[in-house]
Amino acid sequence: MELEAGNGNMILKKGGGSLPVPNVQSFAASKARTEILEKYIRPELNDSTLVLNAADDHDQGDIPVIDLSRLHHPRHSEDEMLKLSLSCEHWGFFQLINHGVPDEVTEKMKVAMGEFFQLPLEEKKEYGQPPDSVEGYGQAFVVSEDQKLDWGDMYLLSTNPVQGRNLKLWPANPPTFKEALEQYSLEIRKVTHVLLDSMGKSLKIDKFDDLFEDCLQSVRMNYYPPCPQASKVLGLSPHSDGGALTILLQVSEVQGLQIKKNGVWLPIKPLPGAFVVNIGDIIEIMSNGKYKSIEHRAVVNTERERMSIAAFHFLSFHGQIGPLPETLEKSEPCYKTLTVQEYTRMRFSFKLEGKNILDHMKLGA
Ligand code: OGA
Ligand code: NI
Repeated sequence: MELEAGNGNMILKKGGGSLPVPNVQSFAASKARTEILEKYIRPELNDSTLVLNAADDHDQGDIPVIDLSRLHHPRHSEDEMLKLSLSCEHWGFFQLINHGVPDEVTEKMKVAMGEFFQLPLEEKKEYGQPPDSVEGYGQAFVVSEDQKLDWGDMYLLSTNPVQGRNLKLWPANPPTFKEALEQYSLEIRKVTHVLLDSMGKSLKIDKFDDLFEDCLQSVRMNYYPPCPQASKVLGLSPHSDGGALTILLQVSEVQGLQIKKNGVWLPIKPLPGAFVVNIGDIIEIMSNGKYKSIEHRAVVNTERERMSIAAFHFLSFHGQIGPLPETLEKSEPCYKTLTVQEYTRMRFSFKLEGKNILDHMKLGA
């Protein structure tokens, strides 16, 4: 694997790239779709008792809701910061409202994404992942021939730093796409910095936000076609996110995100206009386990496609990933420390499977 320092998309490069697998959108639209290939069927899903019904009045409660406007409010910021910190400790997931991202920006991004995925396959393939990278249109995290496959396609682009963008992989169609993604990326970075700043203050980590200065950001558009046997497949395998912080936008009304809470899958019902935010493995490691990176997955629908946009934020490239000194004043380190390069190499050599990256990083496990 080549790592060129200073190039933002290097984080998406890995030895060999993802193995090529069939395009799910065109497979789902073909006549063959009634016969779902063995490669997509997940026997573990037979244990349906593990999934809570979204309509149930379950005792887990819904995921916390954080109001970003209160984080800077002179009277409410302390309360809201405490709520944010508790959400990161006990849930690792929250919905974010009053985030200040203009509706026009999210709407334009949603429309641009929808139009891109409606292009003919041949045109989308012009932006396909090069052999040594997971950036572009295709699938990621396919590392072996006998691995079960996800019922979904994705389009991953590196968005920050700006000089690291690989514009050859950005589509000419729809013509609004480039501007839509640029604006979206900028707005989401602003939100990310407000959240990281508040998290740093709560964790009593000096200059936490500075670690993410001009941070690496990549945006993954997930497209999950309908599946006649939706209950037997997964759109995205259970995983925790390998970055620091993820901001997820639900593009279509169809729900599908589930998080693992106390051993059961809990479906998330996004509030209108809200983002779903989650802690990634890097913040769990840096906070020495105080904030949790939670396993989650995506299920699919029998009738309707589902789309989502995940924006991942990673540390600036120079540096190390390990528990920060402030977190070690009263406790021993629970995780190893690796350079960003070592961490990245390890992360892409694994398939998406539960909390495998964190398991690898845990000391004494
Ligand atoms: C992801 C992810 C969930 C979804 O892209 O990492 O968890 O609902 N997506 O698409
Ligand atoms: Ni994820």
